[in-house]
Amino acid sequence: VDASRIEQYRKGLKILKKGLTYLNHANVGPLHDDVVSAVRQTLMSQAEQASLAQIKWFEILDQARHECASFLRTTADSIAILPNTSTGIIRALSSLPLVSGDEVVYLEGEFPALYWPLMGLKRLKAKLVAVRANKHEDLTEAVLSRINSRTRLVALSWVDFFTGARVDIKALESEKKRRGFHLLVDGMQAVGCLPVQLSELPIDFMAVHGAKWLMAPVGVGLLYASEEARKLTPDFHGWYGHEIDWSAFLRRDTPLYADARKFETGSPPFSLINGLTSAVSNLSHFGSELIWNRVNRFTTEIIRCLREMEVDILTPTESEKRAGIVTFKHAKVNEIFAQLQKRSIIVSVREGAIRVSPHFWNTGEEIQRFIEVVRNVVKGA
Ligand SMILES: Cc1ncc(COP(=O)(O)O)c(C=O)c1O
Repeated sequence: VDASRIEQYRKGLKILKKGLTYLNHANVGPLHDDVVSAVRQTLMSQAEQASLAQIKWFEILDQARHECASFLRTTADSIAILPNTSTGIIRALSSLPLVSGDEVVYLEGEFPALYWPLMGLKRLKAKLVAVRANKHEDLTEAVLSRINSRTRLVALSWVDFFTGARVDIKALESEKKRRGFHLLVDGMQAVGCLPVQLSELPIDFMAVHGAKWLMAPVGVGLLYASEEARKLTPDFHGWYGHEIDWSAFLRRDTPLYADARKFETGSPPFSLINGLTSAVSNLSHFGSELIWNRVNRFTTEIIRCLREMEVDILTPTESEKRAGIVTFKHAKVNEIFAQLQKRSIIVSVREGAIRVSPHFWNTGEEIQRFIEVVRNVVKGA
């Protein structure tokens, strides 16, 4: 049954019609035809109706919050729709009550989308504490070891963009309760790949962009804010963060929303948001367990085969310590990449390593195609 549903879904992926073996979701996800149609439909409403379509656009925004909330097992009032991870991170950071001397724990190899906004906290004279963990160390343990009574914020990627290492978010819960710090998560490389039950996790804010594992258009994402986080207020309010009285824009008594909409800013890309709803609805249709089972099966198989070759695997081998990314180094990285490209097998080179990132809709045969090329180059065939 699953195989035939996936076969059906693959028919709507234009990237396959281009003859590509696409194993690069950690870079950007391909769009399904359903998503393109949803985007087009909303764009057409602006073309054909302009201001007359506006009421519909607000329904689209609301639908997106509900669809994302249900996929992430949380409530719609905890979801703000924002353009990307960075905007979510910046809105979250601008809401946290940090003061001089507060410690902020982050990961040394953090992706720049989180790193640069965090560096902005220096203006508050916050102390930034970088966690270094080599590949033989447990990332979660390393984070826990740097938390102390002065820690007011722990900010990290759930899944590292480079090594694919996954932090055990749940394991931070008791320390978070004890110390009372806030937890800000960049969920970009996790959401859409791993099953996420936000109601069970000690996350205050999680920023996600839909363009990778959610297979949504570039330029639309979300910020999750827990019940506690929704009590905070961003330092600069956006007009979409307040209730809008469409008949009296000059009213100054319109309240800031109590829910996560308070973190929104101004007019959003409604067409892309409709695409996000469609993409998430497609993933929900398969279910996050099926998605992760397949991704895990593929990445486990890749790791198993790579271990038989003389390559340096940078990703933790245990499945609970990784997600959809497998990264490895080898003296012949450039040659491996060139040979993959020659066969239209799409992966990334990051920091001199090959990063492969299959999704649930890929097939075992596609994975074998990738492995075969790597094996041939490594063995000098
Ligand atoms: C961990 C992580 N965070 C964020 C991003 C992207 O940030 P943004 O959505 O702000 O463009 C990426 C990749 O592009 C990433 O790998």
